[in-house]
Amino acid sequence: MAHVSASVYTSHVPAIGAALDLGKVDEPYWQPLFAGYEPSKEWMRENTPDVIFLVFNDHATAFSLDMIPTFAIGTAPSFAVADEGWGPRPVPDVVGDADLAAHVAHSVIQQDFDLTIVNKMDVDHGLTVPLSLMFGQPDEWPCRVIPFAVNVVQYPVPSGKRCLDLGRAIRRAIESYDEPLNVQIWGTGGMSHQLQGPRAGLINAEFDHAFLDDLIADPEQLSNKPHIDYVREAGSEGIELVMWLVARGAMADLAGGAPPTVRHRFYHVPASNTAVGHLILEESDGSPDLSHDAAAVAGGVQ
Ligand code: DHB
Ligand code: FE
Repeated sequence: MAHVSASVYTSHVPAIGAALDLGKVDEPYWQPLFAGYEPSKEWMRENTPDVIFLVFNDHATAFSLDMIPTFAIGTAPSFAVADEGWGPRPVPDVVGDADLAAHVAHSVIQQDFDLTIVNKMDVDHGLTVPLSLMFGQPDEWPCRVIPFAVNVVQYPVPSGKRCLDLGRAIRRAIESYDEPLNVQIWGTGGMSHQLQGPRAGLINAEFDHAFLDDLIADPEQLSNKPHIDYVREAGSEGIELVMWLVARGAMADLAGGAPPTVRHRFYHVPASNTAVGHLILEESDGSPDLSHDAAAVAGGVQ
């Protein structure tokens, strides 16, 4: 069976992608940021999964304001890199896993989460910048990636609790897939930032550190945080952080298993307008969690 081996959390600032693409990583402004991801790249080399289930938000790129799915799963065999105004980033296209994505869609919808099925989608900085931070600049991404888009751009956006519970459902779906795949789940976006209005440039390091502490140790409690708290304390775009709860919900301890091990934690300001946060949580033994009956939620067996 497939299993979840780790979850990875990272911000997705577009200027980070530009710094990489334009060869600026050693400039004094950027050097401390990229240094913080060196241990992550090393860890990724040793722990490359078969598939990354990548929870991200589209920034009115693939989905215009004409149509806004709350949760959308990418079921295509591949995803092109979006043109966000300056041409597509010079990074590889994303190879998906259509079979696993179809299985997860089936299982998660049967678990009462209404997903939008996306058979064609260009992926923007929300997805490509986390890949660049964790893998650097390879000719091809070293594993398959299932894009999973969450609406955090236009209210109403899903609650933290809904996101945590969705992560639990995604874990059950992955564990009921009949292939021995190593799957990581990533939660991206955040941390504190506000891009417009009188509070543009807002950073709240105290909030961000507390969020990281709670995400590790008390995600259930954290999932009760109302949207207005994110907006007030972490800025209007700080709400991207609810996506981290999807990935956290997919870890074994939320299904009665052992808590994950913190492999890496990093926080850095400044990066454009955003506080950059990053965590790697590894499952304690890296093996499938057998503490609940995955077969009960296997696709079509409800
Ligand atoms: C920035 C951050 C974002 O999350 C985003 O989507 C766009 C820009 C920034 O900090 O510049
Ligand atoms: Fe963003």
